Amino acid sequence: MALRKSFKDPPDRPTWSAEFDNPYLRGLHTPVTTEATVVDLEADGEIPRDLYGAYLRTGPNPVFAPPGDYHWFDGDGMVHGLYFRDGKASYIRKWVKTPALAEEIAKGGPQLPGVMGPFDLSAVDTSRAHNNEYCKDTGNTDIIWHNRQLLALWYNAGAVNALDPQTLDTSGLQDFGGALDATLSAHPKVDRATGELLAFDYGDFRSDLGYYVFDAAGRLAHKLKIDLPGPRLPHDLSFTTHYTILHDFPLFHDAEALRQTGRRVLSFHRDMPTRYAVVPRYGSTADIRWFEFEPGYVLHMVNAWEEGDWIVMDGCFQPDPSIRRDPAEGRLGSMLAYLRYRAHLRRWRMNLRTGEVREEQLDDLNVEFCLPDTNLCGVKTRYSYHQLMSEETQTLLFKGLVKYDHETLSREICDYGPGNYGTESPFAPREGAKAEDDGYVLTLVTNEDDFRSNCFIFNAQAIGDGPVAKVRIPLRVPTGFHAKWVPGGDIWP
Ligand SMILES: [Fe+2]
Repeated sequence: MALRKSFKDPPDRPTWSAEFDNPYLRGLHTPVTTEATVVDLEADGEIPRDLYGAYLRTGPNPVFAPPGDYHWFDGDGMVHGLYFRDGKASYIRKWVKTPALAEEIAKGGPQLPGVMGPFDLSAVDTSRAHNNEYCKDTGNTDIIWHNRQLLALWYNAGAVNALDPQTLDTSGLQDFGGALDATLSAHPKVDRATGELLAFDYGDFRSDLGYYVFDAAGRLAHKLKIDLPGPRLPHDLSFTTHYTILHDFPLFHDAEALRQTGRRVLSFHRDMPTRYAVVPRYGSTADIRWFEFEPGYVLHMVNAWEEGDWIVMDGCFQPDPSIRRDPAEGRLGSMLAYLRYRAHLRRWRMNLRTGEVREEQLDDLNVEFCLPDTNLCGVKTRYSYHQLMSEETQTLLFKGLVKYDHETLSREICDYGPGNYGTESPFAPREGAKAEDDGYVLTLVTNEDDFRSNCFIFNAQAIGDGPVAKVRIPLRVPTGFHAKWVPGGDIWP
């Protein structure tokens, strides 16, 4: 099937253009050029009065014309916030003012290259360097809420940017009291039962993962070095009440080639296993247990929990993340090939007493950007909310919302509608919720023809009925990465 290249461009696209035609700077991906605050948004349908809090979504939005090989993962972080209170909604968007962006503004243009390089490693001590010393740290990937702080993080392991949850202004860097002598990856996880933050970091030249536990007050409580056979590209972690699970996938770059060429050359090693490290939350090196599974890659896990001697973990598994480059796509062929996900819901089981492993594919839909109710991470959850991947478009876009029931292994789907593409969809518990799915699911949808943007609000117990309200945003919202729901009681204490 031929891929559709729908590059109708919005009228408010930046006046600059990139060095060459990059599909991640056009159409639905086109960056916006302004920050904004809009109050009293209009809606089709009634905004639920028991929806109290904020849907916050981050993503790439370059300030300057990207030089060279711009990758979708490279744009400066911008957070879009939809705030809900008393049946009313407002919208704020602000850039994440990272140290890298501040330097570019001060110097009037781009400084470090993005993730496709090439990197100047001539003055870099690769035995100890963090990735963000030679690759631009945009803070654009993930946002989390911990210790009454909104934190913006970069997937390639970088600085931790703190934002004001009411205004989205960047207040500075969170260095956890000066105790953290490392960078952190995107996708640290908060255990709502204890308030602890579980995090990791990695590096292009490091043969280990750093694992960190911060307490509810943001103090470093534990750290551990987990040895690896070589540099790896983990993206996520999961945890249970007593254990943290970290990743070693057979998709990684050649460190020597990176040293020689300044570019990361990724390969999928289908003769090597997927490996998960299970570590007690405050465990030592001697406590690390490795479990091996079929080769592949996982960007995002849904959740993990304990069942007797078993760790059970659900996630979105790519069994074949190898490159299938289209020569017609020229310089961007490699990036576009890697961003054509084929992922499905899978379950892994690891027995801590016997060492036995089991894995099974739970469904065949191509889904990713999966979220349970994140208040329940670490204990058994029944429901999760995923994005249905478009397989017709050249770039990575989400065409619908899928709710999974992990007990009955059933699913419910809502297509966002013709020309509509959404973003990650967190669950927002109703005030006084009585059941795991008693609440709402929200997504930001933009239409590829008229570029109108809406926040769709779904009743989480009736996804298939379509949105109960569509909140009209009078400005275009580009596609993006990860989203969180932050309760109103946390934002307005
Ligand atoms: Fe991610």
